[in-house]
Amino acid sequence: MLSLGIETSCDETGAAIVEDGRVLSNVVSSSVHLHKPYGGVIPEIASRYHVAYITGVVKRALARAGKKLSEVELVAVTKGPGLAGSLLSGISFAKSLAYVLRKPLVGVNHLTAHLYANHMNRSGEDRPRFPYIGLIVSGGHTSFYRAEGVLDYRVIGRTQDDAVGEAFDKVAKILRLGYPGGPVIERMARGFTGHGRTVRFPKPFLGKGSLDFSFSGIKTAVLYYARGRRLTKKLISEVSYAFQEAVFDVIVRKALTACKRYGASRLVIGGGVAANRYFYNAMAGACAGAGIRLFMPDLGYCLDNGAMVAALGDELYRNGVVSDYGMTAEPNAEIA
Ligand code: KG4
Ligand code: ZN
Repeated sequence: MLSLGIETSCDETGAAIVEDGRVLSNVVSSSVHLHKPYGGVIPEIASRYHVAYITGVVKRALARAGKKLSEVELVAVTKGPGLAGSLLSGISFAKSLAYVLRKPLVGVNHLTAHLYANHMNRSGEDRPRFPYIGLIVSGGHTSFYRAEGVLDYRVIGRTQDDAVGEAFDKVAKILRLGYPGGPVIERMARGFTGHGRTVRFPKPFLGKGSLDFSFSGIKTAVLYYARGRRLTKKLISEVSYAFQEAVFDVIVRKALTACKRYGASRLVIGGGVAANRYFYNAMAGACAGAGIRLFMPDLGYCLDNGAMVAALGDELYRNGVVSDYGMTAEPNAEIA
């Protein structure tokens, strides 16, 4: 089945063509440059960008896949969670397309789609089998799930305050590194050799065995440390390193706890922060030591994209899921 996926939950306008679980094209146009001066995403700017760019992005996705609009057999779109206005621009566009093409419309959950990025383009042993422990690490979420099937997820742990990506973004702001924080903090941290280390931040474990997270304290610790100090490149590198090390150590250890508690031998991770190489290496090492099979998306599919939406839409449709034209944005949706 030829599926068109549309993703507009935040500041990335994404469209992709997926055929039977294989990605033929994946086009993402980001409005991040417009948000940079504000140090975070401005919802109104993001929505307007989606409206202005979605047609071009879909056209490009079709062209790159070598397909015509009339060949599309299914229109999948992110219905939430995300920014209300942003979601609505994608949903309205998808509804119109599905209506004109007289093809099924499938609204998908953004969090499920991030996890599903591990299923698409893969087969055999490379494709995760259910059940598994799911972990979303993104700008809006940091949660553990017990996944029993593509329509069966249960939350088993979540952040009590900031999401991990949000913490990266806030720390980057404190260090005057701009937005988004993840990639630049990872880069700065790489500049620290580890030699003569003096900075350490508290690791918020929230009690033995807890699967919940809290990242607001560590962000405040960075703020207090940076206050009154000259932000030299060396200091920024060391703080970035210490922050990243503390945050990821907590996540890695909790992930092992979650797998052990539920007797899971598979861990599946999704979301923008999964693009972090330090995180990947730390997680891969820990999972290898604990006999857990780790699945993380290919780099291009960690951040928001239409491919994971198209692929999940196809899978859901094959499971009998179809949306009607009454579908609307679900900004605060949980995983589903
Ligand atoms: O999944 P995503 O594209 O959007 C949401 O659904 O939230 O994730 C965006 C988040 C941002 O907070 C960004 O700073 C973070 O992912 N991020 C990273 C890296 N690349 C993006 N965090 C850490 N290291 C990275 N390399
Ligand atoms: Zn996302």
